[in-house]
Amino acid sequence: MEKNTEKFIIKKALPLSGDVRISGSKNAALPILAATLLTDRGVTLENVPALSDIEDMLTLLSGFGAKISRSTKAISIGCEQIENRVPDHNVTKKIRASFLLAGALLGRFGKCSLPMPGGCGIGLRPVDLHLKGFSAMGADISMEHGLVSISAPYLHGAGIYLDFPSVGATENIMLAAALAQGVTFIYNCATEPEIVELADFINLMGGFVEGAGTDSIAVHGVPFLRGCSCRISPDRIEAGTYMLMAAAVKDSDVCIKNVVPQHLSPVIHKLTETGVQIVTGDNFIRVNSNGLIKNTDIKTLPYPGFPTDMQAQFMALMTTGRGSGIVKETVFENRFMYVSELNRMGADIKIDGRSAVVNGVRHLSGTDVKATDLRAGAALIIAALMADGKTEIGEIHHIDRGYENIEEKLKKIGVEIERVREN
Ligand code: EPZ
Repeated sequence: MEKNTEKFIIKKALPLSGDVRISGSKNAALPILAATLLTDRGVTLENVPALSDIEDMLTLLSGFGAKISRSTKAISIGCEQIENRVPDHNVTKKIRASFLLAGALLGRFGKCSLPMPGGCGIGLRPVDLHLKGFSAMGADISMEHGLVSISAPYLHGAGIYLDFPSVGATENIMLAAALAQGVTFIYNCATEPEIVELADFINLMGGFVEGAGTDSIAVHGVPFLRGCSCRISPDRIEAGTYMLMAAAVKDSDVCIKNVVPQHLSPVIHKLTETGVQIVTGDNFIRVNSNGLIKNTDIKTLPYPGFPTDMQAQFMALMTTGRGSGIVKETVFENRFMYVSELNRMGADIKIDGRSAVVNGVRHLSGTDVKATDLRAGAALIIAALMADGKTEIGEIHHIDRGYENIEEKLKKIGVEIERVREN
């Protein structure tokens, strides 16, 4: 299929003002979509973002025979008649979250075969911790011809220690354990809001998950799970990205609505350190950027530390800030690919392994650049708002994976952005 050959053309922005309404969380919706396989009853989800990653996951569910219907406000998924087939590799290779189908299929059928997820721009992204969990629960695992086959005629509870608090491994083990015999304890698990949301969803279906949001989760297996309806919470990374877009343009005053400020506290604290004025309410964050950014140091960590998914955006913001900032990426091994694109715009960033030093420059200048992954694309938009002249961002299919209606939302606060086909 022809690669999406569209690009954004973005002009240096005048002060931004107005409201941005945040969409549903991609990283909460994806595991919840996988979880719909755990019941043969209907599930209705509201506030699911219209993103290519979501479409890909829905395509995979349909491939198993799930019945999917949509209204303007909700998506209904019926997994009554499910065939435990090998999903289409052309789709699974597009989204890492497709591997979450393993836990759900194991939970439902006791076995599955999935293409081994590949790496991507930001790292090798192995699934050893996912497989460690499944084998602790009694699964036999084999890999050949790029397929991972997992079989557990008797899936039972286990005590599993995660060597790294992996979000995906925590979610996958929860999905497999929801219907297993006995209790599964996940130690040193991820504590992200998306983990809590998945646990809440499983409990809404009649499951019994305790401790989500802490570093130890207990999943008590139940005999079956029923259908339910739920609303996907706001996307904290989309919200953080718009906060930085507002911060990037001097004299901007932007209100980001439909957010959960508590989910963004590391971003709020670090942005405040740069001198940006932030006011938060129950479900909004207001950003005033009335002066120069004072550069600071960032270290990405699993939640509640500074999110790795905001690292590129914050680096972009600091390219024209005062002084220097050190950015340490501790979660992924290769998440600075976008730096060369920022340096082509006149940034002064030097990488040393998993750290980078950004020295603020007086100005960036627009040129043609390419998105290397979803958040790198967002970082280039932030740089384009600050850069003199016009910036053309290619490979924007990466951006469409995670930012719903981005042109519409940006135009509404005064950004001159245009989506055109690459010639
Ligand atoms: C989720 O990816 C998110 N994706 C990522 O967001 C996010 O960056 C990441 O969590 C960290 O917060 C979704 O939720 C769909 P991990 P995931 O397993 O689950 C290593 C975005 O931009 N690891 O927590 O794949 C791994 O290599 C995306 O929206 C193992 O070593 O992340 C990485 O270095 C990008 N073995 C670290 O853990 C394993 O078995 C964190 O990975 C699993 C992971």
